[in-house]
Amino acid sequence: MRFDVLTLFPEMFEPINKSILGRAQEEKLINVNFVNIRDFSVDKHKKVDDTPYGGGAGMVIRPDVVYKSYQSVKTSNAKVIYMTPQGKTLNQRLVEKLSKEKHLIILCGHYEGIDQRVLDKIVDEEISIGDYVLTGGEIPAMVLIDSVSRYVEGVLKKESIQEESFSNGLLEYPQYTRPEIFEGETVPEVLLSGHHQNIEKWRKNKSLEITKKKRPDLLK
Ligand code: ADE
Repeated sequence: MRFDVLTLFPEMFEPINKSILGRAQEEKLINVNFVNIRDFSVDKHKKVDDTPYGGGAGMVIRPDVVYKSYQSVKTSNAKVIYMTPQGKTLNQRLVEKLSKEKHLIILCGHYEGIDQRVLDKIVDEEISIGDYVLTGGEIPAMVLIDSVSRYVEGVLKKESIQEESFSNGLLEYPQYTRPEIFEGETVPEVLLSGHHQNIEKWRKNKSLEITKKKRPDLLK
């Protein structure tokens, strides 16, 4: 799967070169490419923003530089996503849907915003990572790349995806490992029994119990 990120701050994305996503890139399961919107400025000072028509505080990113950055990576099957608090809230269902795409172009906003004309021209879907405002779309873009990449074949073991929180509409059951006794606390007996059916039943019940307690809204 290919991701192209249109951003003014490509250096903010260092974290996605580590751990599981780092390995996924090395193994060419995902390809993450950054396009610095500033590279498309025609201004001698590399300016990309200007004051808003109609007045008001802050600056607005010009449509022409964003459009040129988009044109430098667009393909016929690319889906363009704009990270904005005005978008549809990201959840596991949307993550799974996006993971079926071949090519995502992710546009990160900054400052007061981006000229509406280029958004109208290129954006297919607006996505928010929650009802709060961040300083820019870079961290939301990383959240999107991370959550979507987990569904790309080979990035994780199949079972990890099937058993995790949200994938079956429930939260995940609790996990235990050695030592068998920690600060006087033991491990639930059934997990030591080797009885796979009983273990599965216990885990299903725990998932349900935890979901009821922590996220009853998921059961509605
Ligand atoms: N940009 C700023 N805040 C954001 C949010 N909550 N989700 C997506 N993009 C954003």
